[in-house]
This record gives sequence, C-alpha cells and structure tokens, in this order.
Amino acid sequence: MKRASSGAGSQLLAWVLWLQAWQVAAPCPGACVCYNEPKVTTSCPQQGLQAVPVDIPAASQRVFLHGNRITHVPAASFRACRNLTILWLHSNALARIDATAFTGLTLLEQLDLSDNAQLRTVDPATFQGLGRLHTLHLDRCGLQELGPGLFHGLAALQYLYLQDNGLQALPDDAFRDLGNLTHLFLHGNRIPSVPERAFRGLHSLDRLLLHQNRVARVHPHSFRDLGRLMTLYLFANNLSALPSEALAPLRALQYLRLNNNPWVCDCRARPLWAWLQQFGGSSSEVPCSLPPRLAGRDLKRLAAPDLEGCAVATRPLHPIWTGGSADEGLPKCCQPDAADKASVLEGRSPASAGNSLKGRMPSGDSPPGNGSGPRHINDSPFGTLSGSVEPPLVALLPEGSEPPGPPTTGPRRRPGCSRKNRTRSQCRLGQAGGGSERAGDAEGSGALPSLACSLAPLGLTLVLWTVLGPC
Ligand SMILES: *[C@@H]1O[C@H](CO)[C@@H](O)[C@H](O)[C@H]1NC(C)=O
Ligand SMILES: *[C@@H]1O[C@H](CO)[C@@H](O)[C@H](O)[C@H]1NC(C)=O
Ligand SMILES: *[C@@H]1O[C@H](CO)[C@@H](O)[C@H](O)[C@H]1NC(C)=O
Ligand SMILES: *[C@@H]1O[C@H](CO)[C@@H](O)[C@H](O)[C@H]1NC(C)=O
Ligand SMILES: *[C@@H]1O[C@H](CO)[C@@H](O)[C@H](O)[C@H]1NC(C)=O
Repeated sequence: MKRASSGAGSQLLAWVLWLQAWQVAAPCPGACVCYNEPKVTTSCPQQGLQAVPVDIPAASQRVFLHGNRITHVPAASFRACRNLTILWLHSNALARIDATAFTGLTLLEQLDLSDNAQLRTVDPATFQGLGRLHTLHLDRCGLQELGPGLFHGLAALQYLYLQDNGLQALPDDAFRDLGNLTHLFLHGNRIPSVPERAFRGLHSLDRLLLHQNRVARVHPHSFRDLGRLMTLYLFANNLSALPSEALAPLRALQYLRLNNNPWVCDCRARPLWAWLQQFGGSSSEVPCSLPPRLAGRDLKRLAAPDLEGCAVATRPLHPIWTGGSADEGLPKCCQPDAADKASVLEGRSPASAGNSLKGRMPSGDSPPGNGSGPRHINDSPFGTLSGSVEPPLVALLPEGSEPPGPPTTGPRRRPGCSRKNRTRSQCRLGQAGGGSERAGDAEGSGALPSLACSLAPLGLTLVLWTVLGPC
C-alpha cells in the first residue's frame, strides 16, 4: 500500500513538473524567454532580432519584442495568438507594418509601436478589429498624417499617444469613435490649427496635450464635446488669440497652460480675459506679446481698460475662422456689428482704432453666442501677427514639458534574459539596465524570469522542446 501510494505521488509530481516544464519551455523561439505566470509570455527584448520570430507560441498573452532591429511587421504575424493582450514593438526600426499585421487580435489591449522613427505612415486599416484596445502608443514614429479612419472602431481606447511626430494637421472626426478615450497626447507635432471637428466624440477625454505645436487658430466650437476635460495644454504654440467660446464647454477644466504664445492683448483679448477672470482652476501666465506697452504683462492681471483698441499690425489682419471669404483680409477690429462698416479698420492704419471704439461695449463682453451681429464677427478675436513677434517655439518652460501624472512617465523597457546566454543570476537580476513594466501591467513581473530559470535545470525542457507547433 505504502509503496503504491508513494509511487502514485511521485507519478503525480512528475506529471506536474512535466506540465510546468512543457508550458514554460516547449515552443519558445530562440532569442526569447517564455514563462506562464501570471500571463503566458514570450519575451524577446534587446536581442538584435531583425524580424518577428515565426514561432511565437500560440498561447502567448504577452509578447515583448521591443529594443530589437525589426524593420517590418508582415501580414498576420500574430494571427495564431488569439489570446494576445499585450504586444510591445517599440524601439525597433519599423519602416512598414502590413495593414493586416494585427488581424485577429480581438483581445489585444495594449499595443506599443512607439520610437520607430522610420515608420512615417500607418495604413488606415491597421487597427481594424481591435475592439478591446485600451492603450495605443504611436509616439515618435515620424508620422506626418493620420489616415482617414485610422482609429475607427477603437471604442475601448483610453490612452492614445501621438506626441513627437511630424503631424501637420488634425483631420475632422479622426477620434470620433473614441468615446472612452481619457488621454490624448498630441504635443511635439506641427499642428497649425484646431479645426471645428477635430475632437468630436471625445466625451470622456480628461487630458489633452497640444503644446509645442504651431497652433495659431482654434475654432470656437472645436472643444464642444470635451465636457470632462480636466487638463488642457496649449503652451508653446502660435496663438495670438483664443475665442473664449472655445473654452466655454470645458466645464470640468482644472489645469490650463497658455504661456509661450504671441498673445495680442487688445480689445480682441477681452473675451479671453473675461473668461480667465471667472476660471476657477489653475492656469499658467498668459504673457502679452503685443501691444508693445503691454509686452510681457500677464493678460490675467490686466485691468479691463488696458484692453482697448487694436494693436498695430504690420500687415493686414486675418479673421480667425470666419468661415466666409468675403471678409478675408478686412481687419474688423472689435466692432460689434458687421453692418457697421464705418468701424472697419484698414490693415495698415489701425492706429485710430482705440479712439473710434472708445466707449463702446466690446462685443466679447456679451455672453457667447448672443451678440448683436453675425456670429463670425463677434466670436472671432481675429488677428495674426508678423512672424517677427513670435517667440521661438522651441523656447519652452521646463515645468510644462512633462505631462502630469503617470501615463507618460511610467518606466519603459523591461529587459529580458535570453535563453542563449542566461544564467540564474542574470535572469534574476534581469533589471540590470532597465526599469519595471509599465503601469497596468506590473503584476508580479519581476519574479517571472527567475521562475523560468529555476525550472530550466530540470532538464525536462530539452526533452519536450519540440512538442508543440509554432505560432
Ligand atoms: C486562450 O485562452 C483560453 C482560456 O484560457 C484557452 O482555452 C485557449 O486554449 C487559449 N487559446 C490559445 C490559442 O492558446
Ligand atoms: C467604455 O467605458 C465604459 C465605462 O467604463 C464601459 O462600461 C464600456 O464597456 C467601455 N466601452 C468599451 C467599448 O470598452
Ligand atoms: C504663426 O502664425 C502666423 C500667422 O498665422 C504665420 O504666418 C506663421 O508662419 C506661424 N508661425 C509658425 C512657426 O508656424
Ligand atoms: C441675449 O440677449 C438678449 C438681449 O440682449 C437677452 O434678453 C437674452 O437673455 C440673452 N440671451 C442669453 C442666452 O444670454
Ligand atoms: C545575451 O546576449 C545578447 C547578445 O547575443 C546581449 O545583447 C544580451 O545583453 C545578453 N543578455 C544577458 C542577460 O547577458
């Protein structure tokens, strides 16, 4: 009896060990280390790989391929890995991603393609079907544009990182389907304007970072859907004015940065000034660039009488988003009524503006959308200035250059330990040269390589090496 039960026990033990070893090691690609807990993981960072391994285990829930030299993600690279939730491909040399590279990854939650400066363009179909995706890193990819429909259907997306690319426009409705998006990072691009429909549908957005762009114009209705926005960064742009109507829908706003813009502090700034007076959150300084007598002064701290007349411009002023072309080039400065042509000022002779408008109620002091004249006259603190008055866009305040909160500051790079050259101590000290995993995926990761390594000496790994087919 005793013998029999102990025999059964050791059989069971062998079975358990066999199972573990089988799961850990069997189909692991050469440059990778594979482990099972807490998630089935294939980890191959910093191995000098030049292509996506073809034999990634189909059961993989996480695949780490960052820090290699992969140039191309072929069609259906991960198709067999139906349980894949996390895929890291950042810091490679990706120049091309096949439009169907991620086909079938219906459970994918995190996709990191950042820091692939050669990428430049992403096929608009690339992310189709990724209905569970909640984090998408596309920062530092050299992107020039966002193709039509690129983010369509990504209803679960919460974090979208597009900063430090070469984006030259915000297309209409680009983020329309992203009703759950909370963080949209667009800083460090070349965006010249915020059109009316740029941010439609972003009803959950909490943080919108647009600093370090070239934004000169913000459409009065472009923030309409952002009722939950708490943080808005527009510093280090090219704004000389901002329609207060644009800010009105931002009922939850707490943090606003507007510094490092060529603000014109004349009658056109009145609506913004009034909005800032009643703003309950925290805002940066809004240093005036013009008129010269107010240069460097903070718009917020000026008195209403300081904001009279039109600052002299060296060339005709252009209205901001009037929508009509008939008025183009006519600097209608602060007159309340479009029909009142007498108050229209010539571009090169606005010096009398202050006098002619004195004693008049600036249109901006009436509630937004309720002025006496046509909307496009009243709502547009129009006017742009010659390039010579712009501060260099690169001269940034250091305090503003880091987005608040952890999403961007989370540690990157999780070093792996190679199957080829690993030792116990190397595996256990896998941290050398890197941090831990990112927020949202940190559970127990530090212990995993050591588990993999401690099982390896069992020798069973080799026996069962070839049992499973590749991914
Ligand atoms: C995915 O996970 C489910 C549930 O854990 C499992 O039954 C299935 O075999 C896995 N699929 C693959 C391809 O490993
Ligand atoms: C969006 O967020 C809500 C609330 O968190 C959640 O119930 C819903 O499932 C999310 N939508 C998607 C498509 O994940
Ligand atoms: C800033 O805006 C002005 C007027 O719209 C434009 O002429 C100038 O080129 C812009 N500067 C940059 C750096 O985009
Ligand atoms: C618009 O203006 C009219 C008259 O100036 C006023 O009676 C009305 O209450 C205003 N509407 C709003 C929404 O402020
Ligand atoms: C394993 O070898 C690769 C080169 O083959 C090297 O880049 C890597 O740092 C090594 N890993 C460890 C843990 O020594």
